[in-house]
Amino acid sequence: MVRNLIFMTGATGVLGQELVKELLQSPDSEIAILVRAKNRASHGERVKKILTAIGVDAHLGSRIHVIEGDVTHHKFGIRKEDLAYLERDCRAFYHIAALTALNGTERECQQINVGGTEHALELAWDLRKKGKLERFVYFSTAFVAGSVWNHSSKEDVLPAQPAFANYYESSKYKAETKVREAMAKGLPVTIIRPSIVVGHSETGAVSDFNVIYPFIKLFAHGVLSKIPTHLQNTFNIVPIDFVIRATCAIVKDPRSLNKAFHVVAPEPPSIGMLLKVGEEEYSTVPPIEVIDPRHFKKNKMSAQEQMVFAMLEPYLGYLNGHLTFDTTNTREILRGTGIKMPKTDRAFLKTLIRYAVKVGYLAI
Ligand SMILES: NC(=O)c1ccc[n+]([C@@H]2O[C@H](COP(=O)([O-])OP(=O)(O)OC[C@H]3O[C@@H](n4cnc5c(N)ncnc54)[C@H](OP(=O)(O)O)[C@@H]3O)[C@@H](O)[C@H]2O)c1
Repeated sequence: MVRNLIFMTGATGVLGQELVKELLQSPDSEIAILVRAKNRASHGERVKKILTAIGVDAHLGSRIHVIEGDVTHHKFGIRKEDLAYLERDCRAFYHIAALTALNGTERECQQINVGGTEHALELAWDLRKKGKLERFVYFSTAFVAGSVWNHSSKEDVLPAQPAFANYYESSKYKAETKVREAMAKGLPVTIIRPSIVVGHSETGAVSDFNVIYPFIKLFAHGVLSKIPTHLQNTFNIVPIDFVIRATCAIVKDPRSLNKAFHVVAPEPPSIGMLLKVGEEEYSTVPPIEVIDPRHFKKNKMSAQEQMVFAMLEPYLGYLNGHLTFDTTNTREILRGTGIKMPKTDRAFLKTLIRYAVKVGYLAI
């Protein structure tokens, strides 16, 4: 008999994979994961491949149930029998799937992040009314507040006039607005807002180098040599193990219902600190010139740099850390759990870079 069925979208992604493994630590958990049918592989082959990719062995894998679907479809396009299964047993629904590419188009971000969340909410209402759903956990982002302005972001509100750097941020803002509307209508919701998720606090390990890593790679490999920011500007990164442990502790606590939580670094590192670590650790890293954004002239760059730079514009807000995050809710819930807010100091930056070099992502 299923005691605690969790339904999760985005389980094949960076955060989802780790969350699945953590949730399976609880022996009464079973997890139904939504997976896109990608090619002609049979369902069985696909399931096997997914479990291997997630890093779950056959024993734990027996508590994972794969449901095919796509968040861009009404009720994710899942089969009737899968719907019935969720209606019968599902108690928690984690909506994690999103298009996380910061250079995603407006249409893609709208379809996957906003449309996908609308479909998730529609399904959550069904599971609440017809089934046993106790909680809808939504993965938002700390950057719903928009990364390109001076603002102190609060956990339980969205700013009225945010300033966005890209369609990822604006679509996540719209999606969180929809989640908040559902919450106001009575859906039991918990909103998790991580900043930029990076590798493990002790090992630097991460299953995929997404979001901020490709940006760092361009500088480390000398493709770009100038950066419009200030050395003292900060960028908010958060180790993945903290995000996972904090999320589980937050969701477990009944006080977290109908609240949002900034899962971020309390003291984010500065650009100067990152450059120094690169310089100290790797003499082959080409020099990087930091230019005051007010004096940064794109037309002074080489044609190749201009082209690459144009692709990077959606990232720039993250390097001009004028957006800060209140963490009152998170600190309150984590008090007494033994989970400490993460350290993202020089030693942590070194750990992250060493891991990326060790596995060959950074060739420096
Ligand atoms: N990583 C970060 O720095 C960060 C920071 C703050 C917030 N977040 C939020 O945390 C969540 C997870 O981020 P992540 O970094 O783990 O993302 P990720 O690695 O890019 O993974 C995205 C996940 O969404 C799934 N997905 C995308 N489009 C889908 C669709 N149309 N139908 C079904 N599934 C779909 C992907 O499935 P496939 O395997 O089929 O592609 C994958 O499982 C997102 O909501 C993101 O906004 C992430």
